[in-house]
Amino acid sequence: MLRTHTCGELRISDINKTVTLCGWVQKTRKLGGATFIDLRDRYGITQLIFSGDDENSKILGQEGLTREMVLKVTGTVIERESKNKNLATGEIEIKLQNIEVLNGSLTPPFTIEDETDGGDELRMKYRYLDLRRNVVRKNLELRHRLAIETRNYLDKLNFLEVETPVLIKSTPEGARDFVVPSRMNPNQFYALPQSPQTFKQLLMVSGFDRYYQIVKCFRDEDLRADRQPEFTQIDCEMSFIEQEDILQTFEGLVKYLFKTIKGIDIPTLPRMTYADAMKYYGNDKPDTRFEMKLIDLKTLVKGANFKVFDDAEAVLAICAKGASEYTRKQLDELTEWVKRPQIGATGLVYARVNTDGTLKSSVDKFYNEEALKNWATACGAEKGDLILVLAGAEEKTRKAASELRLEMGNKLGLRDKNKFSCLWVIDFPLLEWNEGDQNLLASLAGRWHAKHHPFTSPKPEDIELLNADPGAVRANAYDIIINGVEIGGGSIRIHNKNLQAKMFDVLGFTKEEAQKQFGFLMNAFEFGAPPHGGIALGFDRLCSMFGGADSIRDFIAFPKNNSGRDLMIDAPSEITDEQLKELNIENVIKKN
Ligand code: AMO
Repeated sequence: MLRTHTCGELRISDINKTVTLCGWVQKTRKLGGATFIDLRDRYGITQLIFSGDDENSKILGQEGLTREMVLKVTGTVIERESKNKNLATGEIEIKLQNIEVLNGSLTPPFTIEDETDGGDELRMKYRYLDLRRNVVRKNLELRHRLAIETRNYLDKLNFLEVETPVLIKSTPEGARDFVVPSRMNPNQFYALPQSPQTFKQLLMVSGFDRYYQIVKCFRDEDLRADRQPEFTQIDCEMSFIEQEDILQTFEGLVKYLFKTIKGIDIPTLPRMTYADAMKYYGNDKPDTRFEMKLIDLKTLVKGANFKVFDDAEAVLAICAKGASEYTRKQLDELTEWVKRPQIGATGLVYARVNTDGTLKSSVDKFYNEEALKNWATACGAEKGDLILVLAGAEEKTRKAASELRLEMGNKLGLRDKNKFSCLWVIDFPLLEWNEGDQNLLASLAGRWHAKHHPFTSPKPEDIELLNADPGAVRANAYDIIINGVEIGGGSIRIHNKNLQAKMFDVLGFTKEEAQKQFGFLMNAFEFGAPPHGGIALGFDRLCSMFGGADSIRDFIAFPKNNSGRDLMIDAPSEITDEQLKELNIENVIKKN
């Protein structure tokens, strides 16, 4: 070892010891005749001191010491005159006898401190420097702990970690595939797994019984704060189980992680049907840290000659507690906000329940105080509350009301990052009519597609509806939601060849297409496939949730930006003509 101690280790009890430390120069300053250096490594910061007239200063001088230079220093631990209570090593400093420069450094393009002056792009370009910052390193330490504890929990329950291949054939999880051309098989391509879904099911056919893997998945979809093109799942599958067993096992994992990592006891997770989630929250991943449910005012408000409500498919209200004194300006801003294309509402109606008990609305022309009182009763609004109402087409209005609810939750400080509200959403529909989702292949537009994935089992009692009313079939599928974020999802699988074939039929595959793409799975089902099911938790999302952040980027060592680029290594990039030729895709590229 080049060092005797780390930069985070020395305490007052180490006084008089001769020690050797290695690390990076965080900063230097001169005070009187002495020079102070903050030396930093992964473990902390230790203050070094040398006086102006000793040998070191002649060798180095303060000018010779630059930020981020790598030093090896030897000296004696002494008590500090002015102690720094904010630093674990703040009671001591090292009086230097020797400084060796292990390597120099250019001036970093941004400050390596908790609060940095570097913008997102710059920090991504120099990610290795960004990773020197405490805050970012701590995120990765948290990620490591979560991975270790996940393995501990699953290992105790007899789950076996099995690696599955990365060069595979497409698995449909609802996004586009990343593909890799095969040199040895001209004109053929591997797909990178959107998840190990089919492999984990095959492992069940093999009798592995309980599988897990902390695994990279790849999806070519539009990116957002909680989406990366390559991300990690805690992927699991179990045999001889029912939905209840999966819910118990993985509720157990989430509770265990909260307890061991954060010391928080999470109560039993409530379960909400998909239908209720949509009805009360307008969303299949409700943020249940706060109430403010959507209230259907349609029957109450119809027939007052207010055309907007009379013509509407849906009239939905929320009650913002304590917000009756919102100013006209605030309400105008909110109206503009709901009219933004991302939210899509045509306008916003409001009614105040003033603190003196009077009621006043933006549609007083149509609704007298008596009518507004009925609104207030329906909404559970009391003195001091504000009722906000949206109206229009059913789906669009529900979505907009859901967004408005979250926005008001933010404005009223109801979405505290240190408070955690977990739940299961269950009984998802099996199928969804796809008009043309931009994340899906165009060829899938105008037909049913699997809400979760095509291997999900319909509820046995709903199977008979598959032909007559596919949209009404419910699935044995479930999502785990924390604070309005979909942390994980899974399902009980089809393990019967005929039912799986039927499912592909409903999804619009011909027999030949289904056999070509998924013959391997359906054939396996003929060799004694056990009943099975599973779940995958988004590991990056779990980490950022535990870390109290919105974006998963800072919990990934080397993330991509919103255009899917790695700015540090500059990928994706072009490849040489020779490579293109070898891969037999030279002509394909040239054509375009
Ligand atoms: P699903 O597609 O729901 O299920 O994915 C499981 C979880 O993975 C996370 N996730 C993502 N995280 C970051 N970036 C992304 N692009 C991204 N996409 C998904 C989410 C999500 O809940 N094979 C099934 C699981 C199963 O049925 O067992 C699957 O992959 O947190």
